[in-house]
Amino acid sequence: MRLRVRRSGPLRGDLGVPGDKSVSHRALILAALADGETVVDGFSGGEDNQRTAAALRAMGVDVAEGGDRVRVRGVGLHGLRPAADVLDCGNSGTTMRLLCGLLCGQGFAARLDGDETLRRRPMRRVAEPLERMGGRLRGAPGARPGDLYAPLVVDGLAPGTRLAAIDYALPVASAQVKGAVLLAGLFARGVTRVRERGPARDHTDRMMAYLGLPLRRTPGAPSGGGGQGWPPPWAAAEIDGGAAGRFAARPITVPGDLSSAAFLLAAAALVPGSRVRVRGCGVNPTRSGILDVLARMGVAVARGAERDESGEPVADLAVAAADLGPTTVAGDLTVRAIDEVPIIAALATRAAGVTEIRDASELRVKESDRLAVMAGELRRLGAEIEELPDGLRVAGPARLRGAACRSHGDHRIAMALAVAALVAEGETVVEEADNIATSYPGFVDALGALGADIRSEP
Ligand code: S3P
Repeated sequence: MRLRVRRSGPLRGDLGVPGDKSVSHRALILAALADGETVVDGFSGGEDNQRTAAALRAMGVDVAEGGDRVRVRGVGLHGLRPAADVLDCGNSGTTMRLLCGLLCGQGFAARLDGDETLRRRPMRRVAEPLERMGGRLRGAPGARPGDLYAPLVVDGLAPGTRLAAIDYALPVASAQVKGAVLLAGLFARGVTRVRERGPARDHTDRMMAYLGLPLRRTPGAPSGGGGQGWPPPWAAAEIDGGAAGRFAARPITVPGDLSSAAFLLAAAALVPGSRVRVRGCGVNPTRSGILDVLARMGVAVARGAERDESGEPVADLAVAAADLGPTTVAGDLTVRAIDEVPIIAALATRAAGVTEIRDASELRVKESDRLAVMAGELRRLGAEIEELPDGLRVAGPARLRGAACRSHGDHRIAMALAVAALVAEGETVVEEADNIATSYPGFVDALGALGADIRSEP
C-alpha cells in the first residue's frame, strides 16, 4: 500500500483512537491465565495484538472477537496446552518477548517466529534474565555476536520443576523485558523482583495489581526526574510466585492508544488553524512523554474528563495549532516518549531553532533503525536533520516539499512521514505503508475525517 498526502488546510474534529496496543497484549495474556471469562473493551484491532490472540488460541484459549470487544475464556494459571505449530509473532516484538516470559515456566516446549524485521531484533535481553530463572531458550545467531534471534525455541521445564525467582536490575529500560520477567515470576518459586533505573512503561505491573495478583511496588529514592509526573514513588516491582494461585477474571477496559493519538495531536499542532480533540487516551506517566514534549515546544495540551480505567489513567486531550519552538529530549523523557521519537522529529522540522533528541539508541533496534530512517526520509522532504549516535539533531523551521519516501516497513515511520507531508508543498508519496495496520489500521480514515488530504492506494 502507498499513501498520497498533500498539504492540507486546518484539521478539525473530535474523535477516539483504537485501544492501547501495549495494554491490549497484557489484557489478553493475563485474561488467558484467569479463572472465568474476561470481557475486554476497547481492544486494539491492530495486527500485533492479533498475533498475541492467535498464539493464545493455539495454546487452547478461547479468544472471541467482535469489534473492539473481546471475550477471553481463561484456562487458569496452569491451563495452557502445547501448540501444534510454531507461534507466529509477525512484526510484534512485544508478542514475542512477553510470550518468552509466559512460556519458559510451562511444562511444554514452544517455537516462536516472526517476519524478517522481527528476526533481526535482539532477544538476548529477554533470554538472559529468563535463563537465570531456569528457563531454557534457544535461538539463531544474527547481526550482533552473542545476541540471540528468532526463530526461538522455548524448552519446557522438566516435570516437577519450577522456575526460581530472581532479583533483576533491568540493564535497558524495556517494558517488554520487565513484562516477560514478571510473567515468568508468576510461575517461579519465591518473590521475583525487577528493579529499574529508567521509567519503562508499567502496564504489566498495573494490570497484575488490578487483577488482584500478588504484585507489589517498592519505593525508590526520588531521583530528580525528567518530566511532569515523574519520578514515581517506586523503583521496583515484585511478584510473589509462591502466593500467585488461581485468580478470578475481571472486566478490563483498555484506554485509547496515546502512541496512535500522538500522530493526530502532532498533525493538529503542525497544520495552521487546526483544533483537534482525542477522547479517552491513556495518559500513564511512563508513556506520556509526548505531552511534555508538545508543551515544551509551545503546544498547549488541554486535558479533560480525567479518570481511571482498569488501573490506567485516562483523559481527553485537546490540541490547537501553535508556533513551534525547539526543545531537547533526553534521559527519562526520551524513555517516556520512546515510540514517539519519529513524530517528534517531524514536529522539529517546523520548530524555529535546533531540537535535539538524545539517549535514544534503543530506536536502532525497533521495527526499523528509526534514527537512520527518519533522518534519511525527512531529508527527502527538505528537512535539515543530522543523525547522532544516540539521537537526532533537527534544525528548523525547514520549508518542506513533497517527495517520494518510504516507511522501511515501519508503521510509525509511515505515519510520521504522512503527518509531515501535511505541511509540505505539493504531494508526498509514502511507499510501503501497509505496516500501519500493525498498530493503527484506521489511521488514514481518521486523518481524512479531520480534513487532511490523504488517501491510500494498493
Ligand atoms: C512496549 C515496550 C517498548 C515499546 C514498544 C511496546 C511494550 O519496547 O517501544 O512499542 O508493550 O512493552 P521496549 O520494551 O523494547 O522498550
